[in-house]
Amino acid sequence: MRELVIIVENLNVKFGKKQVIHDVSFSVKKGEIIGFFGISGAGKTTIIRAITCQLSKKYWTGKILVNGLSPAKKSNHAEILASIGYVPQLEELNLYYDLKPKANIDTFASAYGLKTKKSEEVAEQLFHILDIPEDTWKKPLERMSGGEKKRVSMAIGLIHQPEVLFLDEPTTGVDASKRYEILSYLKKLNQTLGTTMFIISHDMECSLICDKAAILRQGKILEFENPQILISTLPSKGMLARFTIERLNQDVMNVFKTFPVEKIIRVGNDVIEVFIENFEQELPNLIEYLIKNNVKINSFNKDRATFRRYFQLRIQEEELKEKREWEYQMEVKGGGAK
Ligand SMILES: Nc1ncnc2c1ncn2[C@@H]1O[C@H](COP(=O)(O)OP(=O)(O)O)[C@@H](O)[C@H]1O
Ligand SMILES: [Mg+2]
Repeated sequence: MRELVIIVENLNVKFGKKQVIHDVSFSVKKGEIIGFFGISGAGKTTIIRAITCQLSKKYWTGKILVNGLSPAKKSNHAEILASIGYVPQLEELNLYYDLKPKANIDTFASAYGLKTKKSEEVAEQLFHILDIPEDTWKKPLERMSGGEKKRVSMAIGLIHQPEVLFLDEPTTGVDASKRYEILSYLKKLNQTLGTTMFIISHDMECSLICDKAAILRQGKILEFENPQILISTLPSKGMLARFTIERLNQDVMNVFKTFPVEKIIRVGNDVIEVFIENFEQELPNLIEYLIKNNVKINSFNKDRATFRRYFQLRIQEEELKEKREWEYQMEVKGGGAK
């Protein structure tokens, strides 16, 4: 079994009276890529801050271990910080645009107390893995493309050869066409150097390279599992039928619901995706039922759910559960008042 690099047990974070993280537990094995997914305010950054010694112990309770060391103790901070790297959301925070890539690296390397020769060796290895062309190493960074700057920022986060690298929204603000490129470089770094990675993101495409995805909502972890395994827990292992419908409205949605389908989600003005058990067997029956009920199908195809769709459905399910609980509470209270 691979060793555990990070252990978090029953983490609770409170700012004053406001509790923002509720009983979060998970562990990370050496070499894994972990994705933290959730909408803004879900608690992603707060959890990472607690792990990376950026959150005073007065705000949190529970157990955190990074390579066996607890960030609860200030005396452990130097050792923990030496074993982790950080790539901020905005490159401006760790890059000097008027300096050359090499000079940028030197600035950070000396902050870590690395010898010049060693840091040059590591930098060259990283630049090669990241395909940062040799003729750009000695030119000011401002002449580089956005994707290249991001890669230099990744190299800086790795210059002290940390065991764990934290990346805050690595693909946000990057051109759609370049997003996949960033992800494949992260995977390459992980495979070549064995670096454990934490990716915080609201871009679900990041799940493509993740061994485990954590889904966060309102300070709680709803799931912590391999994204493909999560998708396969959907009805018919995540197979879906996508319909384009003429005049899609609530009445049409209700026809689907009375078939009945397991899950239904509107994904566009006239497009819905539906999940049914016994997909292959039931699909012809569903289509027949729709035609009989005067639903006008303009087009239709079969597909497998993406992680984005799983995430939306999982959040939807949680919201529904909460609504039902609330209605039940109101009923109980209402009943008591009679
Ligand atoms: N220092 C703080 N004081 C009070 N509330 C905070 C503080 N930091 C974060 N929060 C609150 O904690 C919640 C989670 O925030 P955060 O971890 O930044 O979410 P995310 O990174 O998922 O967008 C939010 O409601 C935010 O307002
Ligand atoms: Mg955040």
